[in-house]
Amino acid sequence: MVERHAMYPGTFDPVTLGHQDILERALALFDRVTVAVAAGGKTPLFSLRERVELCQQAWAHLDRHEVVSFAGLLVDELRRRRTCAVIRGIRSSADYEHELSMVGVNRLLLPGSEFVFLLARPELAAIRSSLVKEVARFGGDVSRLVPPVVVPILVKRLAKDRP
Ligand code: COA
Repeated sequence: MVERHAMYPGTFDPVTLGHQDILERALALFDRVTVAVAAGGKTPLFSLRERVELCQQAWAHLDRHEVVSFAGLLVDELRRRRTCAVIRGIRSSADYEHELSMVGVNRLLLPGSEFVFLLARPELAAIRSSLVKEVARFGGDVSRLVPPVVVPILVKRLAKDRP
């Protein structure tokens, strides 16, 4: 039987409980999931290596997945790893609009690529990495927003910025 291998890409700066929910649900649908941490884009708080390590540590209890980094186009990574689908989480209509154009361009670049969207659970739909960082920067409790392993590292990293 052909293995159903999906890719879950993102910047994960840092990984949140929302991301974790999407990965857990993707693992229920696919035989294997490669979490692909993107190098480029906005200036991240955590380095690429740190983001990969935080995902690996946060998800050490989950099997059938691996965490890798990539630079360049998502479609090239899909080709390289021969995945059959891309997993993305959708939290709002704004996410949906954003994903529509990403899917459109990706499918022009790699015809036949498939995208599977998982709706965020309502209690996790408000979480986004930038808000997590803002809460931590001002000394708020992030324990219901990010996996336990991320909490002390995030607090330490942002403590120096605290007013
Ligand atoms: N729960 C909680 N937060 C979530 C989430 C979920 N289920 N899904 C996304 N988020 C948050 C992220 O934390 C991030 O928050 P922030 O903006 O506050 O930092 C935000 O939503 C964006 O998420 P991210 O997954 O990083 O999406 P992105 O739109 O930046 O896309 C890639 C990331 C890697 C998929 C995209 O940049 C990419 O494909 N890069 C490769 C280059 C490429 O091929 N470009 C052409 C694309 S057409």
